[in-house]
Amino acid sequence: MSDRKPFVGGNWKMNTNRTTGSDLARGVTDGLITVDGVDAAVFPPFPYLLTVRAILRDRGSSVRLGAQDVYHQGEGAFTGEVSMNMLKDCGTQVVLVGHSERRHVIGEKDEFINKKLRGVLENGLEAILCVGETLDERTAGHQDIVTARQVRTGLADIPASLVERLIIAYEPVWAIGTGKTATPEDAQDAHAQIRALINRMYGKDTAQRLRIIYGGSLKPDIAADIFSQKDVDGGLVGGASLNAADFVGLCKAAAGAGRAKP
Ligand code: 13P
Repeated sequence: MSDRKPFVGGNWKMNTNRTTGSDLARGVTDGLITVDGVDAAVFPPFPYLLTVRAILRDRGSSVRLGAQDVYHQGEGAFTGEVSMNMLKDCGTQVVLVGHSERRHVIGEKDEFINKKLRGVLENGLEAILCVGETLDERTAGHQDIVTARQVRTGLADIPASLVERLIIAYEPVWAIGTGKTATPEDAQDAHAQIRALINRMYGKDTAQRLRIIYGGSLKPDIAADIFSQKDVDGGLVGGASLNAADFVGLCKAAAGAGRAKP
C-alpha cells in the first residue's frame, strides 16, 4: 500500500442546479459509504456549497467539500468575488486554484494564482494547484518547461510547512473535456517530473508525501491503468463526476490502485 492515500475530486464546474446537485451529492455519499482507502471531495458551484454541505453533514459523510476558486483578499470592495473567510464559513475544506479554465478562459496568470494559493494555505485550507500544458505547448515539446514554470511560480514564497496541505493536479489542457486521456506513461512521466521538481524545491520528504493527481477525460473503465502508475495518486474529474456511479467507480479504482502499490 502506498504511503500516499489516493485523492479523487469531482469538479462539477458550472453544471448542476439545486435539485440535480443535491441528487448528485446524495448519490456520491451513498455510493461511497462502504469505500475506504481514498479521500474523495466534491466541488459544486458556489451557490450550492451550503446545500451540498448539509447533505454531506446529514449523512455523516467523509466526502470533503471543495470550492472551484477563491479570491485572495479577506473582504472588501471586490465585486463578484468570494473570499477565503466566506468559503470557510460555508464549510469548505479544499479549494481548486489555477484550473486550466481559469487560466485559459478567464485569463488568470501565474502570479495571481500564487496569491490565491498562498491565501488558501495560510488560511488553513487544503489547496489543489492545477497545472498542465496546452496542445501547442505539447506539440512543441515544451510540456515539462510549462508545468515546471506553473509549479515554481504558483509556489513562490510558500514554505514547506504549508505544502503539507497541498495537492498538485496535472491536467493537460488538451485532455480536458476532449475524450483524449493521457496515456498512463505520459501521465507518469509528467507526475515524476513534478515530484522531482518538488524534491529540488522542498526536499525528499515533502516530495514523497505530496499527492499528485491526474485530470483530463478520466472514465471509470480506463482509470485503473493511470491510477496504478507510481507517481499518480488519484484524479481530478470533470464530466464523469456529474454521474454518481461513474464518480464512485473512479474512487474505487483509485482506492484499489493505492492498495496495490508497494
Ligand atoms: P474532464 O474530466 O471533463 O476532462 O475535466 C477534467 C477537469 O478539468 C477536472 O478539473
